[in-house]
Amino acid sequence: MYTPRWVVQFLVENSLGKMYLEMYPSSEIKDNHKIANAPSTQTRTPKPLHEVKIIDPACGSGNFLLYAFDFFYELYIDQIENYGADYEESDIAKLIIENNLYGIDLDDRAIQLAQLGLFIKAKKKRSSIGEINYNVVSSDFYLPEYDRVRQIFEQGSTLDQNQKELIEKVWSDLQNAYKFGSLVRIDEQTQEQLRAVEGRAHDDLFAAADLAEHQSFAETFFKNLSEAVEQYARTSSDTFLTSQTQDAITFLELLTTKYDVATANPPYTDTKDFGPKLKHFIEDNYRKPYKFNTNLYAAFIKRCFDFTNEDGKVAMIHPRTFMFIKTFEDVRKFIINKAHINVFVDYSLSNLFGSVMVDPAFYVLEKRMSNPRDAWFVSLDQYTRTPKEKYKKDIFLQALNDYIDNIENENNYTIPQQKLKEIKSWPLIYWISDEFRQKFKLSDMEAIADVCQGMSSSNNNRFLIFWWEVSDFSISKEVSDKKKWVRYSKGGPFKK
Ligand SMILES: C[S@@+](CC[C@H](N)C(=O)[O-])C[C@H]1O[C@@H](n2cnc3c(N)ncnc32)[C@H](O)[C@@H]1O
Repeated sequence: MYTPRWVVQFLVENSLGKMYLEMYPSSEIKDNHKIANAPSTQTRTPKPLHEVKIIDPACGSGNFLLYAFDFFYELYIDQIENYGADYEESDIAKLIIENNLYGIDLDDRAIQLAQLGLFIKAKKKRSSIGEINYNVVSSDFYLPEYDRVRQIFEQGSTLDQNQKELIEKVWSDLQNAYKFGSLVRIDEQTQEQLRAVEGRAHDDLFAAADLAEHQSFAETFFKNLSEAVEQYARTSSDTFLTSQTQDAITFLELLTTKYDVATANPPYTDTKDFGPKLKHFIEDNYRKPYKFNTNLYAAFIKRCFDFTNEDGKVAMIHPRTFMFIKTFEDVRKFIINKAHINVFVDYSLSNLFGSVMVDPAFYVLEKRMSNPRDAWFVSLDQYTRTPKEKYKKDIFLQALNDYIDNIENENNYTIPQQKLKEIKSWPLIYWISDEFRQKFKLSDMEAIADVCQGMSSSNNNRFLIFWWEVSDFSISKEVSDKKKWVRYSKGGPFKK
C-alpha cells in the first residue's frame, strides 16, 4: 500500500524539517512548509547537512525517499543562500543520494524502482550526473553456509563459546535477510552481549578480565563480517552471486549506521500469519524486554527506534490498533516512557489508501525528552462512519493550520504525556477531561463485583442460527416446553 503524498510530506516535514529548524530556527523553510512546534531559538547543535541521514527501513518503491530528495534539495539551497555553506548547486543531487537517503526493502523490484526514481530526480537537476552509489538496497541476497566463512572469524583469535554462538546466529539471520529484511539486528546483539559481560564484570574478577577482550570483539565484529562477505565474493566465480554479495555489504553498512530520522509505512502482519521462521526470529529479537512481537508493524516501531541516534526522530504510519489493545500495552509503555509524542494523527477508518479501507494513525516521536511540550493529538476518529468521513484529509489540514497559527480547533487536543499513564495499561486516550480521567484512579469494578463473561456458545457456527431460519413452533417459549431452539440475545457483528 502506497502512502499518499500528503501524508509522506507531513511526516518528512515534521521530522526532518523540524530537526532542521532546531538547528536553524530562523530559516525560511518554516514559511514554506507546515511544520508544527517549530522552535523559536536554536535547540540543536548544527551539523553539516551532508551528514544528516534519513532511513526508510521498508521503503518499497521509495515514496518517502523521493519526497525527502525534494525536501533536502530545498535545505541545501537554503544552506548555500542563507548560511554560506560551501556546496555547489550542481553537486546537490548526488550529495543527497549518496549521503542523506537510506532505504531497505525485501522486494528487489521495488528497490530497482526506488533507485530509478531517485536517478530520474537527479537527472532532472543535472543531466550529466555520472555514476551514483545508492544507499537503497534489497535484502534479497545470497550468503553461503557459515562453515564456508568460519575460518575468517576464527583464525588467529580466541573466541569464547558465547562469541562463537553470536557470530553463527548473526550469520544465520543474515542468510535469512530475504525474509527478515531490516529487522535483522547486528549491533544491538553484540551490544547486548557486551552489556551482559559488563554486568558480570562488576563483581567477578574473571569476567572483568574478559571485558576488554569482549569490547575489542564488539568493535571488530562488523569489520570481520564484511570481510567474510567480501572474501567469499572474491572466491566465487559466479558474477551474479558476487553482485548480490555487494548488496549484502551495503545492507550490513546500513544496518550498523545510526540515523537522524527513521520513517516508514511498515508491513502490517499479525503474529498468526508470520510462518515458523519469522515467528521464531521475531520472538527471539522483539519480545524482550518490551513485547514488540504482536505484529510486524510493532517490531518496526522498535527497529526505527534502534536505527536512530539518541536525539533522533521516528515518523511512521500504520494501523491504530496499538492505541488501545492489551497486547500492545508494552509498545505504548515504551513510546510513552522513551519518547516525546510531537504530533499524533488519530486518522482512523478511511479510504486513505484508495479502495482498501484502513484504520491508520500517523505520528512523529522524538527521542530527546528534555523539557518537552505537551503532546499534540488530532482526532479524526470521531468522523468515522459519518457523512464527514470522506473529508478527513481536509479536516486534518485545517487542524494543522490552526495548530500552527494558535487558533482553537475542535479536533486538536494537547495533553501532558505523563497523563496518559493514569489509566491502567496506558491506552492512548487523549480526548477526555482531567475530571473524567481522575475517575480511572478510583477502584476497579472488579473490587466491587465479580466481572465475568455472559452467555457464550463457544462455537457459533455450530450452535447458532437466525430466528427466521426455523419454524416458530420449534422455538421455546418457556423452559418446560423442551423445544429444540432457545432464544439468545447476541451483540451483533464485531465492532471495534
Ligand atoms: C506498506 S508497504 C510501504 C511501502 C512504501 N514505504 C510506501 O509507503 O509506499 C510495506 C513495504 O515493506 C516491505 N517489507 C515487508 N517486510 C519487510 C522487512 N522485514 N524488511 C524490509 N522491508 C519489508 C514490503 O516489501 C513493502 O514494500
